[in-house]
Amino acid sequence: MQGSLFSAAAPAGRPWPAGPNFADWVAAADVALAAGHAPESLDWQPAKGAWREQRRGDGAGLPPGFARYAAAAHAHVGAEVRPRLYRLLWRLRHGEPGLLDLAADPDVAMLRRWERAVRREAHKTKAFVRFREAAPEVGGEARPRYVAWFEPEHRVLPTLAGFFRRRYATLAWSILTPELAMHYEGEGAVWFGPGASAADAPRGDAFEEAWRVYYRNIFNPARLKIAAMCAEMPRKYWKNLPEAAEIPGLIRAAEARTQAMLDAPAATPALHCGPRPESPGGALQREAAALRPGSLPRLAREAARCQACPLAGPATQTVFGEGPAQARIVLVGEQPGDAEDLAGRPFVGPAGQLLEGLLAEVGLAREALYLTNAVKHFRYRPQGKRRLHQNPERAHIEACRPWLENELAAIAPTVIVALGATACEALLGRRVALADSAGQRYRYGAATLLLAPHPAALLRAPAGQATALRARLCDSLALAARLAGPEATPPTTDQRPERRAD
Ligand code: URA
Repeated sequence: MQGSLFSAAAPAGRPWPAGPNFADWVAAADVALAAGHAPESLDWQPAKGAWREQRRGDGAGLPPGFARYAAAAHAHVGAEVRPRLYRLLWRLRHGEPGLLDLAADPDVAMLRRWERAVRREAHKTKAFVRFREAAPEVGGEARPRYVAWFEPEHRVLPTLAGFFRRRYATLAWSILTPELAMHYEGEGAVWFGPGASAADAPRGDAFEEAWRVYYRNIFNPARLKIAAMCAEMPRKYWKNLPEAAEIPGLIRAAEARTQAMLDAPAATPALHCGPRPESPGGALQREAAALRPGSLPRLAREAARCQACPLAGPATQTVFGEGPAQARIVLVGEQPGDAEDLAGRPFVGPAGQLLEGLLAEVGLAREALYLTNAVKHFRYRPQGKRRLHQNPERAHIEACRPWLENELAAIAPTVIVALGATACEALLGRRVALADSAGQRYRYGAATLLLAPHPAALLRAPAGQATALRARLCDSLALAARLAGPEATPPTTDQRPERRAD
């Protein structure tokens, strides 16, 4: 390389060595920049030294935007690459921070061309490397080694080391190219050795026939477009692709095969897998239509398809209310939690278990009550593998309100107990200070509405407050039991009154 960039007549500059890797160039460029060496004062020397895997962080410290282009362009075989990358870096650091936006700038245009060419080559290398099983050496390694011969135009192997290492993580393999070879032992790091020749790689193993069969089978003669095919699978790669040997014959036979397909009688649907199965949504709709409008089972089927708010997407399922349609007491919670979302039933998690214990204390059986929530989908924030509860917003309460209203209309309970602030807001249509409403009675249609602390609040509260919350919740449940009368704990099934769930 000459001292003044790309000009053969210019005097030689300061020799500037750097190893072959992108990280080596970054380090050398860093030193040159720090020393204030202008691009034309440097003579970048031919790269010498050991290759190693190129990693994402190798360009750390380069200006944002430039690192990604430079990391790819560096693999281009052009002799000017390293000085030109340095000139770009110099310009970015010396008053031209927006340089990369100037697509017409010759340095930028070149950078982009190189980056595109390398990216395309890397893509083709991933697609067209074909491994063959190498015959084990006598007395050599017992495990098979898979070896590929490939002739990339650019030095893409170090940039693809991570890709191949992850894809063939447990196999021992080598990719040989004329300039360098990349090896992996089925564990540890990828390592590089000197270039090889086609004769060093095995030829013709059992996989070759598999590739040919595969290609013959995916080749559709009726869709033959030779130019598009050659753009996808350029001819320069054919010589190392076992399946490419099939191409000429397949092209020659394409017209006749297409005509034969047209002439053949329409195929009978011999491969049919039976009638198309009904979609889950369709099945729910059909089941729902068979049930009495407004009944709890019908509401539950309809709610299972509810998409009225964005909570439906991330949640596992709609958690509808559960309990007898004749229940005299309805408990309304906030929303299903993690356990409820997975089980599809309300109050089965820690808060539900606590609630069940308190119900038993005041002489109520869970099975005699109807338990539901103001919001029927679990709202959460993912954190690693965990799903952290998030309070529902007013919009979620509003979207779910019709389901709650319909449930209450179907049951017509004597007493409703709103557990926690969300349920109170859903039933009263406004926020209330729960602490002030202990013992107060509200109306919800013909029912008495009591406001009580949510059992989950007892689980979260410090010991001193938990006792008071517990007492208030028990009082409300006991009051609900009194107001509902003996009917609150229903008679056995055969003595039940006429009203049925469906
Ligand atoms: N909390 C609620 O509000 N409802 C449930 O179903 C479970 C926990």
